[in-house]
Amino acid sequence: MISKNMEKAISDQVNKELASAYLYVAMSAHLEAREYPGAAKWVRQQAKEEVGHAMKLAEHAFDRGSRVVLEAMEKPPVDFGSLEQTFKAILEHEKKVTAAIHKLYETALNEKDYAAQVLVQWFISEQVEEEKTAQEIIRQLEAAEGREHLLLMIDHRLGERGD
Ligand SMILES: [Fe+2]
Ligand SMILES: [Fe+2]
Repeated sequence: MISKNMEKAISDQVNKELASAYLYVAMSAHLEAREYPGAAKWVRQQAKEEVGHAMKLAEHAFDRGSRVVLEAMEKPPVDFGSLEQTFKAILEHEKKVTAAIHKLYETALNEKDYAAQVLVQWFISEQVEEEKTAQEIIRQLEAAEGREHLLLMIDHRLGERGD
């Protein structure tokens, strides 16, 4: 049996993961408009990953006979600035997600929900990876310092990201 608090916490996180996907599709549209197709594709892959995260949480809830309730999503920005600013926005967003995942884990601890604890541990590790990856890309973009030919090389490399 899943507690009401845990049910609500998982459901809220499903919403947050879907909102992340929505934000990343908006960023992808922005990057396409700025003619960085590689980075745009990288961000779209990220969006797919976020949908996967939402499903992972939702399926856990469903497997346990729990209910997921979807909420309205906030309209994302249209313009995210330069390539570097866009990736900085990704890192900031992922830091917020990390904080939300940690809160979710705290709920699982308080509710003595061992199954949810195991699930959320996967997300804790995933967030370490997300922040590290965003940080590495920012580092490369900072080193390129607005030199367009270097930015285009980075863009090309980002486009090689697979599913
Ligand atoms: Fe996620
Ligand atoms: Fe990831």
